[in-house]
Amino acid sequence: MLEHLKETDPDVFDAVQREIARQASGLELIASENFVSRAVLEAMGTVLTNKYAEGLPHKRYYGGCEFVDIVEDLARERACRLFDAEHANVQPHAGAQANLAVYLAFLEPGDTILGMDLSHGGHLTHGSRVNASGLLYHAEYYGVREEDGRIDYDALREKARAVRPRLIVAGASAYPRVLDFEAFAQVAREVDAYLMVDMAHIAGLIAVGVHPSPVPWADAVTTTTHKTLRGPRGGLILCPERHAKAIDKAVFPGSQGGPLMHVIAAKAVAFLEALRPDFADYQRRVVDNARALAEGLSSRGFHVVSGGTDNHLMLVDLRPSHPDLTGKDAEAALEHAGITMNKNTVPGETRSPFVTSGLRIGTPAVTTRGLGPGEMERIADWIRGVLDAPHDEGLRARVRGEVRELCEAFPLYRDLVAV
Ligand SMILES: Cc1ncc(COP(=O)(O)O)c(C=O)c1O
Repeated sequence: MLEHLKETDPDVFDAVQREIARQASGLELIASENFVSRAVLEAMGTVLTNKYAEGLPHKRYYGGCEFVDIVEDLARERACRLFDAEHANVQPHAGAQANLAVYLAFLEPGDTILGMDLSHGGHLTHGSRVNASGLLYHAEYYGVREEDGRIDYDALREKARAVRPRLIVAGASAYPRVLDFEAFAQVAREVDAYLMVDMAHIAGLIAVGVHPSPVPWADAVTTTTHKTLRGPRGGLILCPERHAKAIDKAVFPGSQGGPLMHVIAAKAVAFLEALRPDFADYQRRVVDNARALAEGLSSRGFHVVSGGTDNHLMLVDLRPSHPDLTGKDAEAALEHAGITMNKNTVPGETRSPFVTSGLRIGTPAVTTRGLGPGEMERIADWIRGVLDAPHDEGLRARVRGEVRELCEAFPLYRDLVAV
């Protein structure tokens, strides 16, 4: 494996080897990550990367596109079938590009958008001042109730009536409960706004009906393809036929140049995998594992925001159980023990976003690895132990060893081992 890379560039080869070993031997609990199949990996490494294919299948600005057209048609048709959508654009290079394209399709600079507050679980691309969405448009925010961590739909309606947005963004990076897309659509209709749903985190759950679908309710649905959907790093937009032209134009030439055809091939493969029955089983196990881990953490004294989870992730507010421990330090201590997750703001946050009082924990990657509820109990135990003594090097080393043993019992890529 990778013999040409090894010969040409030993430094990059070496870093890749170390990353293979890191992924193999640690527990990946970052809610936005996953492990793709070998077929998806292979598709990404094909000669399709050599091809320029500006435009859409059968309407390209370059010759020689007959085979990449087959690939993009497959990806578009499978995406539509998977989500029961009328139209798909599979070209966005990533989730951020998908969101920008929707804004370009529906808005004029200076228009108002209403998205979820970043510190309540929203995303930078939903109107943050440091992102194009907040630089080009006037951003207003809604959020969750501090008491129960759930979106306050009455407050959302009031806010929408007050600020009259041109577009409402539903979707989040750190929200553990079911999103009520019908309620969002009602509010959008009332104030005559477009509804964009960014389902990046929960796309895999939606594909199999474990979470209700936004497709019947939204003017456009965006997603990344690499989180619960378990495809290559990339983006996707779904929309009703009436918006297809505007969306396609906003992707190219509006915001991108040539599509990444090797990645689109990998998206096609991932969508095919997601259409198979075992993908539904995988998504159910992701949610079962998240519930088991949330219960395991609650029963060990942690405050799980909103009391649990309906999806693939949970938020832990460390303040009640560990008032002196920041999210940043907790993340670092767990990393030393071979358990990777990220610090996160929590409702009513009192620390800066670089420090935080919480942790975001997700189960898509460990579930792909084959772990089940029994292993979630062990993980909850390790988390409690490490966070009770975050500077105990001996304890962290012991947990690191046990984590490695567990990972060896659930190997990731059997024929892809670091040399
Ligand atoms: C809800 C949501 N939207 C968009 C994105 C951006 O995706 P990307 O990193 O592929 O640009 C993310 C990434 O974390 C996300 O969580």
